[in-house]
Amino acid sequence: MISLIWAMDKNNLVGKGDKIPWHIKEDLLYYKSKTNGQTVLMGDQTYFSLKGYYKDKPLPYGKIYVATIDKNLKIDGVTMIYDLVSFLENNKDDLWVVGGATIYKISLPYADRLYISFVKGEYEGDRYFPQIDFSKYNLVWENDTDKVRYTLFERN
Ligand SMILES: NC(=O)c1ccc[n+]([C@@H]2O[C@H](COP(=O)([O-])OP(=O)(O)OC[C@H]3O[C@@H](n4cnc5c(N)ncnc54)[C@H](OP(=O)(O)O)[C@@H]3O)[C@@H](O)[C@H]2O)c1
Repeated sequence: MISLIWAMDKNNLVGKGDKIPWHIKEDLLYYKSKTNGQTVLMGDQTYFSLKGYYKDKPLPYGKIYVATIDKNLKIDGVTMIYDLVSFLENNKDDLWVVGGATIYKISLPYADRLYISFVKGEYEGDRYFPQIDFSKYNLVWENDTDKVRYTLFERN
């Protein structure tokens, strides 16, 4: 099972440089409640950005896969993925894809579940989630707050 989890604004914006364009604590707590201790896949940019926040503390996941096309890149405690498509095709794990923009785009065709936090409002940035064909998914859960509409979509 492959789940993508992300937050985006009304224009599909997900990032500004190596940062998230907003700071919404309730969404961060929601994200953590889903991904803590889980097997996650992320791109190397997102990994280094998270390391910047966590500094010497371990990242709060179970197994961590980091995708890169830099075959010389090795990170302690992390499994490197150099061929992302074949990894996704052969995945048997309960895998959470946690970004960033490039990795979401490549992973989207393989996603069984989309955990989308629709952040209300418009922000500035330069990394976008691709267009999603929602006819391929069913909305199975949602929770609306002042700041965010939390949703779960499952593939038909
Ligand atoms: N809003 C959210 O929920 C959310 C969540 C996470 C991250 N983000 C944001 O997303 C942004 C980062 O996204 P990003 O696209 O810059 O970086 P990224 O997705 O974290 O990492 C992309 C990396 O994947 C590598 N890659 C590309 N194709 C590959 C393939 N076929 N196999 C293996 N590796 C491959 C690229 O290598 P090369 O560099 O060598 O091309 C690149 O370094 C930041 O702004 C971050 O804040 C947002």
